[in-house]
Amino acid sequence: MAPTRSGNEVKFSINGETYTVDENFPAHTSLNAFIRDHANLRGTKAMCHEGGCGSCVVAVRTEHPFKKQEMTYAVNSCLVSVFSCHGWAITTVEGIGNKRRGYHPVQARLAQLNGTQCGYCSPGMVMNMYSLVEGKEITMKEVENAFGGNICRCTGYRPILDAFKSLSVDATPDLQRKVQDIEEVYKIKICPQNGKTCSGNCTDNESQENCNGTELISGQDTLQVHLQLRGAQWFKVTEVDDIFKIFDKVGNVPYRLVAGNTGQGKYDSDRLARRLSIL
Ligand code: FES
Ligand code: FES
Repeated sequence: MAPTRSGNEVKFSINGETYTVDENFPAHTSLNAFIRDHANLRGTKAMCHEGGCGSCVVAVRTEHPFKKQEMTYAVNSCLVSVFSCHGWAITTVEGIGNKRRGYHPVQARLAQLNGTQCGYCSPGMVMNMYSLVEGKEITMKEVENAFGGNICRCTGYRPILDAFKSLSVDATPDLQRKVQDIEEVYKIKICPQNGKTCSGNCTDNESQENCNGTELISGQDTLQVHLQLRGAQWFKVTEVDDIFKIFDKVGNVPYRLVAGNTGQGKYDSDRLARRLSIL
């Protein structure tokens, strides 16, 4: 039910927090400007400001004016006047999950299936999918039809659609298999000392000795940086060959290649070795 208005103002919530907007805001204030500049939630992006790119999409829950049912739907926040939002419960990408609390399945699936690179379109993609799937079952066809208004300039649409279609009730066996494979990889625990797979129980002295990660790069001349970080190791190399030397040392563990950092993904080292040797 819409909150009671008193005087010259409208009220709505963003991620559960109530906001009041009155005449002190210019009449042309968009919901997007309000979210980013007043609520200081910068996860919601903006690019075209004319409903063409989808980077500004947020989820809105409100009562359908005719059906009189609560419904969740996606809106382009750049096109919505903040003054239209009375009674709305608005959810932005910050409201559905994050690194500390854990990710929403829509966020996790997009990351797991490599559906994001620079990430600028990702909050809009995620919130479009979240609005679609919230409280209902969806089909692959519905996913396909729902993303005409979301533009991605760098990832390519196949991994994005695959990620979202894998959440549909009629996901193909191929997609289901992809997700299972990845989820298996995510179950692997990595030793914080040496980056190798382990049970996470090495309390005895012998195991601790085996966990001497600094041995990993001894004798490798062209390696420039090797850092022991919490739960990971960081290597900087200058030669492709050195990547394989590291793989030889650390074994088949999840890793991330950082090169300009416009794209991220998790792979296993055997698979990468096969790909690089083909190149
Ligand atoms: S900023 Fe492009 S659709 Fe809103
Ligand atoms: S624009 Fe989609 S990930 Fe870069």
